[in-house]
Amino acid sequence: MSIKITTKTPSSPFTRTDLLIIFGEEGRKVKLPKGVSIPANAIESFTGREGEVHITDALKGAAKRVLLLGLGKGRAISGELLRRSAAIAVKKAQETGCRSASAWVNLSCGRRATEFGQALAEGLIMGSYRLSEFKSTSQPAGLKRISLYAEKLFNAGVRRGHAIADANLLARRLQDTPANLMRPRDLVREARRLASASPRISCRVHDEKAMARMSMGSLLSVSRGSSEPAYLIHLVYRPSGKPGKKICLVGKGLTFDSGGISLKSPAKMHEMKYDMSGGAAVLGVFHALAELHPDAEVHGLVPASENLPDGKANKPGDLVKACNGLTIEVLNTDAEGRLILADALAYAAKKIKPDAMIDLATLTGAVVVALGHELSGVMGNSRNLLDELVACGESTGEQVWPLPILPFHKQEMKGSVGDLRNISGPETGAGSCTGGAFLSYFVDDIPWAHIDIAGSAWGASDRDYQGGRAGTGVGVRLLVNYLESC
Ligand code: BES
Ligand code: ZN
Ligand code: ZN
Repeated sequence: MSIKITTKTPSSPFTRTDLLIIFGEEGRKVKLPKGVSIPANAIESFTGREGEVHITDALKGAAKRVLLLGLGKGRAISGELLRRSAAIAVKKAQETGCRSASAWVNLSCGRRATEFGQALAEGLIMGSYRLSEFKSTSQPAGLKRISLYAEKLFNAGVRRGHAIADANLLARRLQDTPANLMRPRDLVREARRLASASPRISCRVHDEKAMARMSMGSLLSVSRGSSEPAYLIHLVYRPSGKPGKKICLVGKGLTFDSGGISLKSPAKMHEMKYDMSGGAAVLGVFHALAELHPDAEVHGLVPASENLPDGKANKPGDLVKACNGLTIEVLNTDAEGRLILADALAYAAKKIKPDAMIDLATLTGAVVVALGHELSGVMGNSRNLLDELVACGESTGEQVWPLPILPFHKQEMKGSVGDLRNISGPETGAGSCTGGAFLSYFVDDIPWAHIDIAGSAWGASDRDYQGGRAGTGVGVRLLVNYLESC
C-alpha cells in the first residue's frame, strides 16, 4: 500500500503533523507556515544549498519536527532534483518513526508547476517503498499520509505522479517477491488483476497448448526443464476515443533463471528472481495506463517462463524453431531471454502489427559491465525511436544509452546447423549488441527498440528513490512518458 497524498494550498489552515518538510532555495528566505516556529539559529544557518539537510524540533505550532532541505539555486531546480529531494525527506520521516508528514512547497516554478508536482509526488511515494510483507515479526508502522501544501497549479502533476509512482511500486513488489511466490502463473494472476480493475484493459493468456498451436518452439523450449508451465500474457489498453498510435511493449518475464543445463555459478544465482523485471515493468505500465488514459492503443506482451535444468530441459546444441520459421541452435541454455523474446516479438510483428515496439529485458551481464546500474542500454532499428527514448530517459531520470547493432553483430548470430545460434563466438565480445542483433531477426520491419535493463533493474546504490538490494521498477516511468507522447 502506498501512502496517501492530500493536496492543500499554502493558505489552508496548517494541520497537525509529525514532520514538516520545507524545500528551501538558495538565497531565498525560508518561509514557515503560520504558527510554526523553530529555533532562530536553525533558520539562520540554513543556506538552501543543494543537498543540505537540517532536522530540528519545532518550538511551537502544529508540527512536531521540521526538516529543511536545500534545493540550490531556483533557476537550476529540475524535476529529477525534486524527485530525489522528496524521496530523501520521506526516508528521513520513515527513519524517525513519523506516521504523518506535511510538505510545504513554496518554489518559484513558473510554468513548471505540473512537472514539479509530478516529480514531488513520485519522489514522496517511491522513497517510501519498503518490502516488509515477508517478515514474520510486525514492522514499524511507517508513514501513512502526506499533506502537500502547494499552489493549485501543482495538483494535476501530483495526481499524475501519484499514479506513476504507484505503478513503479507495483513493478518493484513483483520484482522483489521471491521466485517461489512469483512464478509464471503468478504473473498471469497479476495481469488478470490489472484487466479486471479497468474497463479499458483486457487480458488474454496463451497457455502452452495455444503456444504450441502457434509454433512457438523457441519460447516453449525454455520452460521444458521446469514443472511450472510457461504463458504468453497479452494485455491491451484501448483509449475511449479514436486511438492514436498502436504501441507494443514486450517484457522478459523469466521468473527464475538458473541458467538451465548451462547452470549459473551459485554466488549470485538468487538474484535471478529479478529476471522478470522487464515483465514487471510492462505490468506496472498498465497499472498507470488505467489511471492516466493516454490516447495510444497499448499492447503489453509478457512471455513468462522459468529456466531450470532437468531431463527434458534444453541441452547445449539443441535446435528449436520460432513461430516466424527461423531455427535456432541453443548453444548456451543460459541465453534463454532471447529465446522467449524471439517468439513474443515475432507474434507482435505478425499478429499485432504495431506502429512501434519496445522490449525490456534483463538480457545480458555484459550491459552491467558497459553501463553499470544507473543506465539501461538501448538499441534497435529506428533512429527516431531511439532518439525519443533517450529524450524520455532524460526527462524521467531513467536514462537509456544507445548501443549499436551493426551488420557484423547480426552476422555473428548466424548458426551453422540452424539459421541462428543463441550466442556469438567467444572472441566477439559486445555481448549486449549481439543479444540485440539476435532479437532483430524477429521484428520484421516494425520500428523496434530493445532496452537491456540487466544493470538498472536492481543492484543500484542505495539512494533516495531507489536502490539498495531491491528492485528499482526501472522502465515504468520511462515508458509511461513515451506512451504519453504517442
Ligand atoms: N538473465 C541473464 C542476464 C543477466 C546476467 C542479468 C547477470 C543480470 C545479471 C541472461 O539470461 C543470461 O544469462 N545471459 C547470458 C548470455 C550469455 C550466455 C551469452 C550472460 O549475460 O551471461
Ligand atoms: Zn540466462
Ligand atoms: Zn535470463
